[in-house]
Amino acid sequence: MKSKTVGKVISQKCLAPGIYDLEIETKIAAEAKAGQFVGVYTKDASTLLPRPISICGVSDDKKSLRLVYRVAGKGTGEFSGLKEGDDVTLLGVLGNGYDIEELKKIATSNGVLLLGGGIGVPPMLELAKELNAAGVKVISVMGYRDDKTFLLDEFKKYSDTYVASEDGSVGTKGNVLDAVKENGIAFDCICSCGPLPMLRAIKEFAGDKPAFISLEERMACGVGACLGCVVKTKEVDHHSHVNNARICTDGPVFAASEVEI
Ligand SMILES: Cc1cc2nc3c(=O)[nH]c(=O)nc-3n(C[C@H](O)[C@H](O)[C@H](O)COP(=O)(O)OP(=O)(O)OC[C@H]3O[C@@H](n4cnc5c(N)ncnc54)[C@H](O)[C@@H]3O)c2cc1C
Ligand code: FES
Repeated sequence: MKSKTVGKVISQKCLAPGIYDLEIETKIAAEAKAGQFVGVYTKDASTLLPRPISICGVSDDKKSLRLVYRVAGKGTGEFSGLKEGDDVTLLGVLGNGYDIEELKKIATSNGVLLLGGGIGVPPMLELAKELNAAGVKVISVMGYRDDKTFLLDEFKKYSDTYVASEDGSVGTKGNVLDAVKENGIAFDCICSCGPLPMLRAIKEFAGDKPAFISLEERMACGVGACLGCVVKTKEVDHHSHVNNARICTDGPVFAASEVEI
């Protein structure tokens, strides 16, 4: 069972309107990997459940975590006020994360294509870093609403990087798949995080090629206890004997072919 731990804010900056970049010193960074997330507690007692936020980065010394988030409501609004030296209570590290060794075996010729949409962009950055460190070729295609992009320069350190924007102000006009098609990008497999309609389109687009998607839908306890986050699966779960998986513990990363979205 994961327990709560108190971390210390190292820094926080605003990357784009409503998008914040929070660095927290915490012992749980030692076990964190791409695709996993943490539960971040608010100080407001009326919002009891921790807010799930993906790991955008793990420092090289494994002593701090980087979380990049969009202010969506009360909880994330409170986090945006955190300052250097503040305490922050975390639950984690949670979820399964990406299997770098498996991706390395699959991506032997064209590489791994990372597709991030909106606030699904941040978790792709730690994945790009870990794949690059493992010697895997990485192609990143990140999608934004407009020219208020974030983290793009950092993707360029680890991958061939392309951009899509809904209004066409940067890169390809449209979504990440429009950019993949426009640039004729070849790949062995896809890893993706973003809104559900985007993930559905990616599942179809991948066809026979392996695709791994990170489901960031609504969550409550974050530790497998409340069944507030189930997704339909193709196979019957050995534990519950139903066609369900819990996103918080069995995911959030799933093979696209295994889940019905
Ligand atoms: C595994 C996982 C990883 C996540 N990683 C990130 C991340 O790296 N960065 C980031 O910005 N956000 C991430 N999210 C979404 C984030 O958890 C929510 O935006 C946050 O919990 C909202 O809390 P709040 O109190 O600010 O908003 P609330 O007051 O609870 O809600 C405000 C609005 O946000 C919507 N909302 C709440 N939760 C979600 C959700 N999960 N997805 C979409 N809309 C939601 C509500 O419908 C409502 O309209 C992740 C979610 C999951 C499940
Ligand atoms: S959020 Fe409670 S079981 Fe997943």
